Amino acid sequence: MTTYITTPIYYVNAQPHLGHAYTTIVADTYSRFRRLCDAPVRFQTGTDEHGEKIVEAAEKEGATPKEYVDRISAMFRETWPVLDVKPDRCIRTTDPDHIANVQRILSEVHERGDIYFSKYTGLYCRGCERYLTEKELVNGCCPDHKVPPVEIAEENYFFRMSKYQQQLIDHINTHPDFITPERYRNEVLSFLSEPLEDLCISRPKSRLTWGIELPFDKKFVTYVWFDALINYLTGIGYPDGEHFEEYWAVAEHLIAKDILKPHAIYWPTMILSMGLPLYKKLHVHGFWNVDDTKMSKSLGNVVRPRELAAEYGVDTLRYFILRDMSFGLDSSFNAGLITTRYNSDLANDLGNLFSRALAMVKKYRNGVVPQPGEPGELEAGLADAASTMLEKYRREMNGFRFHRALADVWAFVALANKYIVACEPWALAKDDEAGATRLDTVLYTILESLRLLTLVLRPVMPGAAAKMAAALNLQEGELASLDSAGNWGGLIAGTVLVELPNLFPRLTTEKKEQPAGKEHKGKKEKKQQADKADDAFVTFEDFKKIDLRVAEIISAEPIKGSDRLLRLQVRAPEERTIVAGIAEHYRVEDLPGKEVIIVANLKPAKVMGVMSEGMVLAAKEKGDDGDRLLLSSVDGKITPGSGVA
Ligand code: MSP
Repeated sequence: MTTYITTPIYYVNAQPHLGHAYTTIVADTYSRFRRLCDAPVRFQTGTDEHGEKIVEAAEKEGATPKEYVDRISAMFRETWPVLDVKPDRCIRTTDPDHIANVQRILSEVHERGDIYFSKYTGLYCRGCERYLTEKELVNGCCPDHKVPPVEIAEENYFFRMSKYQQQLIDHINTHPDFITPERYRNEVLSFLSEPLEDLCISRPKSRLTWGIELPFDKKFVTYVWFDALINYLTGIGYPDGEHFEEYWAVAEHLIAKDILKPHAIYWPTMILSMGLPLYKKLHVHGFWNVDDTKMSKSLGNVVRPRELAAEYGVDTLRYFILRDMSFGLDSSFNAGLITTRYNSDLANDLGNLFSRALAMVKKYRNGVVPQPGEPGELEAGLADAASTMLEKYRREMNGFRFHRALADVWAFVALANKYIVACEPWALAKDDEAGATRLDTVLYTILESLRLLTLVLRPVMPGAAAKMAAALNLQEGELASLDSAGNWGGLIAGTVLVELPNLFPRLTTEKKEQPAGKEHKGKKEKKQQADKADDAFVTFEDFKKIDLRVAEIISAEPIKGSDRLLRLQVRAPEERTIVAGIAEHYRVEDLPGKEVIIVANLKPAKVMGVMSEGMVLAAKEKGDDGDRLLLSSVDGKITPGSGVA
C-alpha cells in the first residue's frame, strides 16, 4: 500500500537540533521501511517561513526576512543528507506553488461561508503566535513562554472551526487509530469535550506584513498556522497533481506533542471545510530533554545532530534515538547513554557477531559461503527465531514502536551469538569429516542470520547495513524487499565474502579524549590517566558532605506543562519543596505518607518555575516499553529527617 509520511515544517527561527533530527529520522526510517515492504513512498519535510517570530529573528540579525529564511532553511536542507535522511521534497512556505494553494483554499473556504470578519479582543501570546484562553494561563502567564499575554483588540477574519467540532469528535470515535499513541487521542477528545472557539486566521498588515496576503482582503495576511498546515497538500500536488489522490488517501503526519492541537483540531476542521477526506493517521511522539532538563538556547544545552553524527557516526545516532525513546514518551539525552548503547549493542553484540562470523569463514572456508548440510535442532531453532523476529519487526515498525522493533532484533542478535557459543565452530574445525559438514552448516546458519539482520537494519542504519551487505557480497536487488528476501535460506552457497574493516570499533574514553595524531602516552598523559582512574572514586570525605536523609512526602501535585515532573512537599524534618521526575511512574494520590531518601543539601534550583530544595533518590531500570522507576526508601517507619549513611 502506498505511503505518504510528513514531518512538521520547522520554523526557521532556530537551527536544526536533536528534536528536529529525531522526527525527521523517524520519518526517514519509516519511509525506508515501507519501501522495504514494496510500498511506493512519498516522504516530505520542510520549513515554515512566515510569521512574527521569523521577522523578529531576521531583525536581530539585521537581515530582511527573505534573506534570513533563505539562509536558515538551507541549513535544514543541508542537515538531512548528513543524517542519511532522504526526503522527496523539502517544501518551503515561501514556494510559489504553496502560496498559490493557500490563496486558492482561502478563497474556497471563504466562498463556502466558513470565513467571517469580526472584531475580537483576546489575550495574545507572541511566542505561540496565537490567542490563549483564560483557562490555559498559569499564574496569568503562557504556560510555555512564561510571560503574560498581551490584550489585543482588533478586527480579523475567523474560520468557523466550531461548525466541524461534532464531525471531528465522531471521526475520532469511529477511527481508533486516527491519533496515536492513545494518550494523545484521549487528550484531544478531552479538549473537544468543551465547546470550540472559531479560529482567528488573519493578521492585519499594520502589525505583520511577512505572510501570505488574503485573496479577499489585501489589508491582511494569513495566520501562520493556516498557511503552514496546507503544506501537506501542496507537497503532493493539490489540487490536481497526478498522484495527489493516491497520496492524500494514505497521509500520515508525524509530530511531537507540542503541536498536537493545530494538527488534531485546526487541521482536520480545515480539511472538512475543504470537502476533502481526513488524513489517515497522526503519530505523536514525546520530547527529548537533555540531562533531564528542557533543551533551550538560554540554558545553553541545545544538542546539535550534526555534531553528534560527526562524533559518533550517523548510524549510531540513528540507532540510539530510535532505540532509546519509547515512541510517545519523553526521553532524556546524555552523551554517556549514547556511548553505552554504542559499546554494548553495536560494538559488542552486533559488531562482534559480524566480525567473528567473517573471520571464521575466512579462516575455515577461505571466505566462501559453504553449502550447508542437514539442519539440526539448533539450526531449526535459530531459523524459527529469525522468522518470529521478522514478523514482530514488521508489526512494530508499522505501529511506530521503533524501540520495540529494535529490541526484538537485538534479542535475535543475542541468540545468534549464543548459537556460536553452543556450536563451538572452532572445535568442529579440528574434527573429522562429519565435523566438516557440521561446520559448513553452522557457518552458513550464522551468515544467513547476518543476511537477515542486514535486511532489517537497512531502514535504521543505512550506512552500516550497506557495509554489511558489501561484506556478504549481496547486491542491492537481493535486499530490496522483506517479502522476497525475508525468508530463511536466501544466502547463496559459493558466494565469496568481501573483507571489511571493523564495523563498530569500540569507543573508549581515552580515544575520545586523545587528540587525533597523538598516539604516544607521555608522562603527563599517564598521570592524567591515573588521575582519571582516581576520578572513578569519591573519597569518604567527599561522601560525608552529602546530606542524605529520610523525608516523608506530605503532598504531591503535577507541574503544569510537564508530563514528567511532580512538585512534592516533604518533611525532613522541616518542610520543603522538591521537584521530582516521577510523574510517569507514580500517581499523586499514592505518594502522601511515603518515606523516601533525599539529598538534603543539593544546591536549590528552579525547575519549571518551581524552586526545588533537594533531590529524591530512586532506582531506574531501562526497559523496552519505557523505564521502570521505584522510589528509594528505608526498611520500616523512621522519624522524618533521620540521617542516612
Ligand atoms: N512550524 C511549526 C510546525 C508547523 S507544521 C505544519 C513548528 N515548528 S518547530 O520548529 O517548532 O518544530 C516543532 C517540531 O520539532 C516538534 O513537533 C517536533 O517534531 C520537533 N521537536 C522540536 N523540539 C523537540 C524536542 N525537544 N524533542 C522532540 N522533538 C521536538 O512547530
